[in-house]
Amino acid sequence: MVLPKITNFHHHHRFLQNSFSWGSSSLSQLQRALTKSIPSALGVQNKAAIGPLCSSAVVESKMVKAIRVHELGGPEVLKWEDVEIGEPKDGEIKVKNKAIGLNFIDVYFRKGVYKASTMPFTPGMEAVGVVTAVGPGLTGRKVGDLVAYAGNPMGAYAEEQILPAEKVVPVPPSIDPIIAASVMLKGMTAQFLVRQCFKVERGHTVLVHAAAGGVGSLLCQWANALGATVIGTVSTKEKAAQAKDDGCHHVILYKEEDFVTRVNEITSGKGVEVVYDSVGKDTFEGSLACLKLRGYMVNFGQSSGTPDPVSLSALAAKSLFLTRPTLMHYTVTRDELLQTASEVFTNVGAGVLRVRVNHTYPLSQAAQAHTDLESRKTSGSVVLIPDGC
Ligand SMILES: NC(=O)c1ccc[n+]([C@@H]2O[C@H](COP(=O)([O-])OP(=O)(O)OC[C@H]3O[C@@H](n4cnc5c(N)ncnc54)[C@H](OP(=O)(O)O)[C@@H]3O)[C@@H](O)[C@H]2O)c1
Repeated sequence: MVLPKITNFHHHHRFLQNSFSWGSSSLSQLQRALTKSIPSALGVQNKAAIGPLCSSAVVESKMVKAIRVHELGGPEVLKWEDVEIGEPKDGEIKVKNKAIGLNFIDVYFRKGVYKASTMPFTPGMEAVGVVTAVGPGLTGRKVGDLVAYAGNPMGAYAEEQILPAEKVVPVPPSIDPIIAASVMLKGMTAQFLVRQCFKVERGHTVLVHAAAGGVGSLLCQWANALGATVIGTVSTKEKAAQAKDDGCHHVILYKEEDFVTRVNEITSGKGVEVVYDSVGKDTFEGSLACLKLRGYMVNFGQSSGTPDPVSLSALAAKSLFLTRPTLMHYTVTRDELLQTASEVFTNVGAGVLRVRVNHTYPLSQAAQAHTDLESRKTSGSVVLIPDGC
């Protein structure tokens, strides 16, 4: 059964999109902000009241429930099974998940667009949970800590999982676990896209495809806060309203309008500095056409399919830059991970980013969540909640 849809979750998080100035001194401002708010969040143990563990029955047993994939295919290959996860070894922790983020990458692995390293495998790359055991000799993490992770290792669609301690970050006490699970992977993706891959500045015009999606919603808010003019594309009027609310100055219904023509009109033929394109096949060529001279084509996903090969002459026509970045390559070191996560949590805490948890499903119903994500029915973040939590 699908839980009731939550719309405009957290009304009380006021959307202060212009309250945090990100001008030329943005980094030093950020560092000051982090010095004030982050040590408690990232260095020391989390003392938040985390509430009781989800269900006490499984604490005794080594078997936990998890989603497993035995063969590639549609949502129906996601099976709800008992799995044994064992105990944490050196450098590892065991985490009892409170909330699991659903990401389009989970669909790619389920279908085989990306290859899982084992079969069967448990999908999922984003979760927030409570540490229930630590490996021998491990310091810096303790039972009861509330932690979040995003990226490798895969296996978040489980009531409990083993993780390398160096892959998790503490969740600031002020941030709800469900919000944290909605913003860890998607928020860090937005961070590296606007702050590292192509640095968005005041005066830039940016084009964001799938502007009402999980990453898209955060990307638009962040680019707006950095002072850019934001153009977003979406498939429906409802999504258009959300994108406007998230700071898009112009919204294009790309199933009804030709987005290249519209971007040309909006920019008076000048084009945009950067396109953040996660749609891939259906938008790639048009995205190149929207760029100004020396513009940046950032293709970071392929929700509609893998784009066709690009010829160098297509880039030479306007001296364009093309990159196909991945979050994992922007959070390689522990410092990079902490810095990226801390910017996200700081912006959530400050109200610069409003996290839209528009859909929650019980973990056992992951197949329904995949169906809805793939059929473009969802907007904002989608979260899976372990049964009994
Ligand atoms: N490179 C990285 O490190 C990285 C990290 C995170 C995410 N990503 C990528 O970012 C994208 C967004 O991820 P997300 O989890 O936040 O998903 P999402 O954007 O919430 O969902 C995908 C959206 O893409 C749009 N879309 C357009 N054509 C589609 C099609 N044929 N089938 C399905 N959707 C289509 C839909 O929005 P409309 O209905 O408005 O068209 C849909 O809601 C994905 O491509 C993902 O792979 C990349």
